[in-house]
Amino acid sequence: MSYFDNAATSYPKPDEVYSVLIETMKNRGGNPGRGSHRMALDAFRAVYETRVKLAKLFNVDDPLRIAFTQNATMSLNFAIKGVFKPGDHVITTSLEHNSVLRPLFSMEQQGKVELTIIEADCQGIISLDDIEEAIQENTKAIVITHASNLTGTIIPIKKIGEIVKKHGILLIVDASQSAGILEIDVKNMNIDILCFTGHKSLFGPQGTGGIYLRKGVEIKPLMEGGSGSHSKLKRQPQEMPDLLECGTLNAPGIAALGAGVDFIMKTGMGNIRKHENELTEAFIKGLKGIDKVRIYGPETGERTPVVALNMGNIDPAEVSALLDEEYEIAVRPGMHCAPLAHRSIGTYETGAVRFSFGYFNTKKEISEAIEAIKEIADYYKEK
Ligand SMILES: Cc1ncc(COP(=O)(O)O)c(C=O)c1O
Repeated sequence: MSYFDNAATSYPKPDEVYSVLIETMKNRGGNPGRGSHRMALDAFRAVYETRVKLAKLFNVDDPLRIAFTQNATMSLNFAIKGVFKPGDHVITTSLEHNSVLRPLFSMEQQGKVELTIIEADCQGIISLDDIEEAIQENTKAIVITHASNLTGTIIPIKKIGEIVKKHGILLIVDASQSAGILEIDVKNMNIDILCFTGHKSLFGPQGTGGIYLRKGVEIKPLMEGGSGSHSKLKRQPQEMPDLLECGTLNAPGIAALGAGVDFIMKTGMGNIRKHENELTEAFIKGLKGIDKVRIYGPETGERTPVVALNMGNIDPAEVSALLDEEYEIAVRPGMHCAPLAHRSIGTYETGAVRFSFGYFNTKKEISEAIEAIKEIADYYKEK
C-alpha cells in the first residue's frame, strides 16, 4: 500500500523505533522513577535520554522542562486549561485543530476566557497584522499551530515570537505537524509552551507526546497523582517534569520516540524536508491540468507535505474509498478535525481528500497516485 496519511500518523517508522520499543519492554521493563533497582533505573534512563534528545532538537536548555504526555491533545489541554485564568483574552486562528479549538471553546463557554479567532484567507494564510491588531490589554497568549494539518500552511513562528515579545504575552505553539520536519528553536522563536506529538514526523509510537514549559510560566496541573517524588506532599510537586507527569509513563514508547529523534538527527532534518518537498512538488505539478481537480492551500511559497484536494463534486469519501480499494493508496477524506480551516478554504460543507507524504514515500508512488487520480477523473467524466 502507498501510505499517504502521514499527517494522521507516520507509517512506517524507522526500523530502530520498532527494535527499541521491544528491547525496552524486554530488558528495561521497570517503572521509571519508581524504584532504585537496576531495571527501574534503566527505564528511568531510557526516558531521560529521550528528554535530552528532544531538548537538543528544540533547543531547550534544561531537558527537565519537557514533560511527557500521551499526545499533543493532552499537552494542549494542559496548556490551555492550566495557564489561563478568568479575565484572560486569548488569540488563536481558524487553522487550528480541534485539540486547540475545543479546549478553548469550552473555556470560553464557561466564561473563563475571552477568545479572538483570526480568520485565514482562502489559501489558508494568516495575516500577522491581524494577529497583532487583535492584541488587547488583557491578552494573555497566542495559541497557534506551526503548520496546518489541512492546508499545509507554515506559520512564521519566529515572527509571531517577535510580536509576543514586544507585547509581553505568551506564545503557545502546537507543533503536531511540524516537529521533526521544521526547525523549532524555543529560545530563538520566543516559544513559552511547545506542545508536540510523538507519532507523526518524530517517528515515535502512538501514545507519545510532550510539552515544553519555559521556566517562569505558571501552570496548574490538570492531573494529580503519583510522581515517584515528594510522596509525603499533599499536592502535586511543583517542579517540572513531575508537575505535569503523573502516573506511570509509557517508557517503551518514549524510548522508541528517542530512536525516532535519533533517526531524524542521523538523516538530517534538511534531507527529510528536501525529500518530502520534492514529493509534494511532483504531486502538485502532476495534478495540474487534470479535469476538475482543485488543490487547496498556499499557491506560492513553502508548505508541509500535506495536499488537500477535491475532484469536482465527487464525495471525498468516495475518492478515498476508490483509492484504497482499487489502487491501494491510503489517504484521508472528510473534515480533518479542523472545522474552521475548512470554512476558511471553502470546504466546510464538502470536506476534502488529504494526501500527506512522509520520508519513506517514493517518487514512484507519487506517479502512481497521479495516474490513479487521472483514471478516477476520466471515469467520472464518462459517467
Ligand atoms: C495540528 C494538529 N494539532 C493537534 C493534533 C492532535 O494530535 P494527537 O492526536 O497526537 O493528540 C493533530 C493531529 O492530527 C494535528 O494535526
